[in-house]
Amino acid sequence: SASVPLKDITHRYVGSAVAAAYLADEADYRAVLTREFDNVTPENEMKWGTVEAVRGQYDWSGADAIVRYAQAHHMTVRGHTLVWHSQLPDWVAALPADELRRVLRDHITTEVKRYKGKVRAWDVVNELFNEDGTRRDTVFRQKLGDGFVADVFRWAHAADPAATLYINDYNIEGRNPKSDAVYDLVKTLRRQGVPIGGVGVQAHLSIQYGFPAEYRENLARLTKLGVDVAITEADVRIPTPPDAAKLDTQASYFDRLWDGCQAVRRCVEFTTWGFTDRHSWVPGVFPGEGAACLFDENLQPKPAYLRINPW
Ligand code: G3I
Repeated sequence: SASVPLKDITHRYVGSAVAAAYLADEADYRAVLTREFDNVTPENEMKWGTVEAVRGQYDWSGADAIVRYAQAHHMTVRGHTLVWHSQLPDWVAALPADELRRVLRDHITTEVKRYKGKVRAWDVVNELFNEDGTRRDTVFRQKLGDGFVADVFRWAHAADPAATLYINDYNIEGRNPKSDAVYDLVKTLRRQGVPIGGVGVQAHLSIQYGFPAEYRENLARLTKLGVDVAITEADVRIPTPPDAAKLDTQASYFDRLWDGCQAVRRCVEFTTWGFTDRHSWVPGVFPGEGAACLFDENLQPKPAYLRINPW
């Protein structure tokens, strides 16, 4: 593989989503992760459905293990995610409004305080918008109203004032109604003094849908609101099986994602949603697509990796 690790060719944080089980079980997975990256994002271990599937019964084992690993290897942690309609326990969704509000505040306070000083950035709110830019109609919105967004940022900030607090979403790489909606919301929240410090751009791309239009311009306009941006979940899926031409197209997509971030001063992080095709959410959710990561199933760098990092 390349002689200079990815994390050493940029001043941005370079991260990957990780799973505690693979960290525990696979020495080759640990070796590549630790060599190439200096940030980790728990893929599922910090979600509400993981940490408190049953009311009052907390399971921090996976999250703790990842944070411990990161600290031991001088990596930062991106916390993912405090408020999301998915992987939300049924018991939470069933609560009446006043109780939901208290429980939500408790959840955020408990989790953020537990990792205070150990999590550099939090995805506080995940996937708030529909594709047309309207607000997604979740239980949080139905029961608490749109104002819950400002509240959860304030609660998270109170629990760890040093962490950078993000709103995170997909299909907001380019300029479109959804990224316009994120832009407008961040502008409003900043004007109201809400402690939002960043926009997470997931960047789940497919070579079948084209590269997002005005990607770099979109990142830049977000930073003009006074916040950081981060690429938080990058992957580029291809119709399987991969061949040389598809891998080359994938390489150009990853390269453009990477370069756009490098070109924007406040794009502070480039994190991929897993680093090896051995473990990826893509084939399970998009049958017939896969091979979305920078390293293959044997942890060898793919053309996309070598395009970003020829050193
Ligand atoms: O933990 C259970 C396990 O006990 C059970 O045996 C197994 C059987 O299916 O399921 C396991 O839970 C799965 C979990 O991943 C851990 O592997 C869930 O079913 C599965 O739905 C869950 O999928 C995750 C998905 O979020 C949930 O929506 C993916 O791993 C994860 O990569 C994906 O990540 C999301 C980001 O959080 C937000 N942005 C999009 C991204 C991709 O969908």
